[in-house]
Amino acid sequence: MASAWAPPFRPAMALPSDPVSPLPVPASADPGAPEPNALRHRPVRSFVLRAGRMGSGQQRAMAELGPRFLVPYAPGPADWSAVFGRDAPRVLEIGFGMGQATAQIAAARPELDFIGVEVHEPGVGSLLKMIGEGGLGNVRIVQHDAVEVLRDMVAPGSLAGLHIYFPDPWHKKRHHKRRLIQPDFVAFLATRLAPGGWLHCATDWQDYAVQMLEVLGGCPALENTAAPGSDGYVPRPEMRPLTRFEARGLRLGHGVWDLVFRRKAD
Ligand SMILES: C[S@@+](CC[C@H](N)C(=O)[O-])C[C@H]1O[C@@H](n2cnc3c(N)ncnc32)[C@H](O)[C@@H]1O
Repeated sequence: MASAWAPPFRPAMALPSDPVSPLPVPASADPGAPEPNALRHRPVRSFVLRAGRMGSGQQRAMAELGPRFLVPYAPGPADWSAVFGRDAPRVLEIGFGMGQATAQIAAARPELDFIGVEVHEPGVGSLLKMIGEGGLGNVRIVQHDAVEVLRDMVAPGSLAGLHIYFPDPWHKKRHHKRRLIQPDFVAFLATRLAPGGWLHCATDWQDYAVQMLEVLGGCPALENTAAPGSDGYVPRPEMRPLTRFEARGLRLGHGVWDLVFRRKAD
């Protein structure tokens, strides 16, 4: 079932130094139409590409392990069974940061395959390095906007789980539109989950936690796994280790909220 929803996050990637680079004409646009004005049509994205230096270990991992573990973005469904060389339940993570939590989860759950999606290149190098160190055959990385990866490369109903750990909080009100957890996007995420598949989000930003609960709770395709009568959040599931971003939040005295929802049966 194709989703009618089209992400507002175009184009595929911002160029590192250039938030207002000329945009490609959207696929649906009339090819004869004039190029859209880049300034007026700046897309809303959930990330800003930060410049970041790759350490030498990350660079080496990129060169040596990239060809095997990086999956290039493509505008059509990927054959994930061929990519992983097996047919195991698949979990996709949006924004793994430096990848420590991803690597720990993948090592602890060898029966699952993990697709990590991240735009920050040093993070990609960092997770590749951990894949090498841990011999993690069940992780692949797509270095691209996860919104487009999910839309284009992941078939509807195909994921066992989705992880969104400490998504950028975009705490200024005028930036809230950049937050990932919004009703249209969550409805779209639910289409990528198999019935019974889980959507696990965590944040250390209280008003984002409230927004998450409202948005996830308002998605008719999802049901909350939190205990009835509880506040709607769950204790940190055993599967999720402390993330790097979370550790920073805890040092600053932030609380942490986990939410686990499941896609209802059709
Ligand atoms: C606040 S960090 C959290 C990283 C990690 N999950 C953690 O808890 O330490 C959010 C990450 O999401 C990534 N991100 C945000 N939007 C993204 C998108 N649309 N596609 C891929 N990565 C994205 C950012 O590059 C950033 O590394």
